[in-house]
Amino acid sequence: MARKTIRRGLTAALGVAAVLTASGAGGQDKKDEKLPDIKEIMQKGHKATDNYLAQIKAEVKGEKWEDAGTHAKLLNAFGEALGKNKPPKGDDKSWKELCEKYASNTKAVLAAVEKKDAAAANKALGAISGSCGGCHKAHK
Ligand code: HEC
Repeated sequence: MARKTIRRGLTAALGVAAVLTASGAGGQDKKDEKLPDIKEIMQKGHKATDNYLAQIKAEVKGEKWEDAGTHAKLLNAFGEALGKNKPPKGDDKSWKELCEKYASNTKAVLAAVEKKDAAAANKALGAISGSCGGCHKAHK
């Protein structure tokens, strides 16, 4: 079940190429090459000194909307990628829900930045900052 759900998500995201690859014998993991893994998402998105969350927050504050847009796009791509990974532990249903929430938060950050709406951006960034512990407890 778990595998299937993940495969289906991947297939939908990557389109026809993925379907063709997956239907061939072996080599299925090749198509995952570009998918950032959870650690990369966590490091670049949330942890590094120049992590996306912190950068976006500062850029919104400084009204550097173009830079904020660049980082919000990267964060949003991570939002879309997270759920295509498999966590080290926890059940699939919970992972799916938490990843959907994370994706909708990263999407909200991007939408707010594109509208130059600082209040909405801070709200969405705050939602992400408040979501770390819950997901780690279940899946890290
Ligand atoms: C939707 C789930 C989810 C959310 C939300 C989440 N994380 Fe994580 N995080 C994980 C999982 C799963 C791991 C374990 C990855 C592994 O060990 O492969 C992890 C690992 C990490 C790590 C360790 C990375 C490493 O190199 O081992 C850091 C740091 C981290 N998260 C920071 C954060 C911070 C900060 C936030 C909130 C701003 C956050 N995470 C939000 C799921 C999440």
